[in-house]
Amino acid sequence: MVGFYFGSLMVFFLFVLASATPRNLPTLSFHEGYSHLFGDDNLMILKDGKTVHISLDERTGAGFMSQDLYLHGFFSTSIKLPADYTAGVVVAFYMSNGDIFERNHDELDFEFLGNIRGKDWRIQTNVYGNGSTRVGREERYGLWFDPSEDFHHYSILWTENQIIFYVDNVPIREIQRTEGMGGDFPSKPMSLYATIWDGSNWATDGGRYKVNYRYSPYIAEFSDLILHGCAVDPIEQLRNCDNGNIVLEALNAEPVSSKITSDQRSKMESFRKKHMTYSYCYDHVRYPSPPSECVINPGEAERLRAVDPITFRGGRHPHGKRHHRSRASLVEATTI
Ligand SMILES: *[C@@H]1O[C@H](CO)[C@@H](O)[C@H](O)[C@H]1NC(C)=O
Repeated sequence: MVGFYFGSLMVFFLFVLASATPRNLPTLSFHEGYSHLFGDDNLMILKDGKTVHISLDERTGAGFMSQDLYLHGFFSTSIKLPADYTAGVVVAFYMSNGDIFERNHDELDFEFLGNIRGKDWRIQTNVYGNGSTRVGREERYGLWFDPSEDFHHYSILWTENQIIFYVDNVPIREIQRTEGMGGDFPSKPMSLYATIWDGSNWATDGGRYKVNYRYSPYIAEFSDLILHGCAVDPIEQLRNCDNGNIVLEALNAEPVSSKITSDQRSKMESFRKKHMTYSYCYDHVRYPSPPSECVINPGEAERLRAVDPITFRGGRHPHGKRHHRSRASLVEATTI
């Protein structure tokens, strides 16, 4: 009996933990924070006003972007990805200012790369600063759940000196600004974007598997929209919120701390040891000596040597510029 109650309580707590909004921050309705970017009627707002569907079919993908630009903050959404055959389909949740700073833009990415039937989605994170598109800082991972089965939270924390990517409140990647990074650390106000598009030429196995429109429309569902930042004018860098310190104060106060607790850090380390499949920091072909922000971890190195020996032997990687350009030109084409 005691065991039964204890068991139910545990299930209850686990449920509460899994479903809690990141940092208990308030969620916005779509129209409070975002606007439709492209894709005509391939964007649908549900009755609750807080859930958005964007879809890809043979005519077009779709996307939305935040009404404001933000300098630092905590940005989050939950996503349920399309299921089954999704080769070539790319879903992205990212920050960028490429439409304003064409030559020296900043960018922080979550990208979901579709897969052939029966294989899980993979995710990629990336960072660009001040137009550093020649330096790819990609990492790729598998997940510990099927992201097409249910909603999961994906969040980006960005402060003056630190970037953290989270999945369901677990930090999966941390970047501490170093002097060596120079302008490569994002430092100008950015907008938030969510898009779905045809990445046939690179997304799945370097382009071997293309989007198959027999299975379309591919629908990505977004909810729990959180924009916890201070809106900033991108050119004048003037803050539009009442008190510019609100965000940074909030970020440093419990429970919205920008510090990773030791418990979270061990979760991050175990995630990276189990699920990371690529990191530029260990790509000796592209970077004979790792960029200055890389923190080399022997456990990660060992795992990546096992999953991707090519990187350690020498060989070409399909990451980087090509993919970046395809997405950037898509955004440009749709915002002009
Ligand atoms: C960013 O790029 C611009 C234009 O290329 C350059 O003038 C500026 O010094 C760079 N900023 C940093 C912080 O590197």
